[in-house]
Amino acid sequence: MFTLPWWRMYVCCCLSCSTLLFFVLKGDDGEKGDPGEEGKYGKMGRRGPKGIKGELGDIGAQGNIGKTGPIGKKGEKGEKGLLGIPGGKGKAGTVCDCGRYRKVVGQLDISVARLKTSMKFVKNVIAGIRETEEKFYYIVQEEKNYRESVTHCRIRGGMLAMPKDEAANTLIADYIAKSGFFRVFIGVNDLEREGQYVFTDNTPLQNYSNWKEGEPSDPYGHEDCVEMLSSGRWNDTECHLTMYFVCEFVKKKK
Ligand SMILES: *[C@@H]1O[C@H](CO)[C@@H](O)[C@H](O)[C@H]1NC(C)=O
Ligand SMILES: *[C@@H]1O[C@H](CO)[C@@H](O)[C@H](O)[C@H]1NC(C)=O
Repeated sequence: MFTLPWWRMYVCCCLSCSTLLFFVLKGDDGEKGDPGEEGKYGKMGRRGPKGIKGELGDIGAQGNIGKTGPIGKKGEKGEKGLLGIPGGKGKAGTVCDCGRYRKVVGQLDISVARLKTSMKFVKNVIAGIRETEEKFYYIVQEEKNYRESVTHCRIRGGMLAMPKDEAANTLIADYIAKSGFFRVFIGVNDLEREGQYVFTDNTPLQNYSNWKEGEPSDPYGHEDCVEMLSSGRWNDTECHLTMYFVCEFVKKKK
């Protein structure tokens, strides 16, 4: 058994008594207080449920017209139209010298055709030509037989080329080779007398010739014309064969 000092007993007793008094002697309710101040905003609420699908909207207004597209391809040619109605009878014409005009027009056509041929020739001449002190040489790149070749050169004021010396022969041979050809007609033949070769101006070959080894060889008498090979050598051949040829033109003396 323990004992407490007297003042402790007292304190203890007083605490117990006041507690008891608190419960037993509870007072009346107080008056209602004034309303408090407005509170702060609360937290954001949860996301609401998905809405119901809406109704289809009204049709929108028409848009502006778009840009012009690229030009289309050219159409195919249409079919030929039907024959038209024949025209009315014309007025009586004045008397004219129609025959004369027709003749003039006809001659004009011929002149134009000649001019065209000359132009073509000139164009070719400018494209490639060789010259010495006295002459121009020109390979005509048109396949012709011997007689046509002679005529072609002559009507243009020249001759089928006649290499009468080593220098002329070398120049022509070089011209043929550089142009990439194998053979051309030159102005040599024995058309007049078999075996008697002459240049187209009828001068004999007494001073110069450059036959290929074993040529001229004409067992049947058919090879009366002469071609120059790109080596510069001559070979007798048939006049009706067609090949390129060389014209020569004497330069006009000043
Ligand atoms: C041959 O050469 C000689 C001397 O150069 C000349 O007098 C003669 O006219 C020439 N003959 C021919 C056909 O070209
Ligand atoms: C020479 O001409 C004859 C006849 O045209 C031909 O048969 C022969 O092949 C020619 N020779 C050469 C080397 O071209």
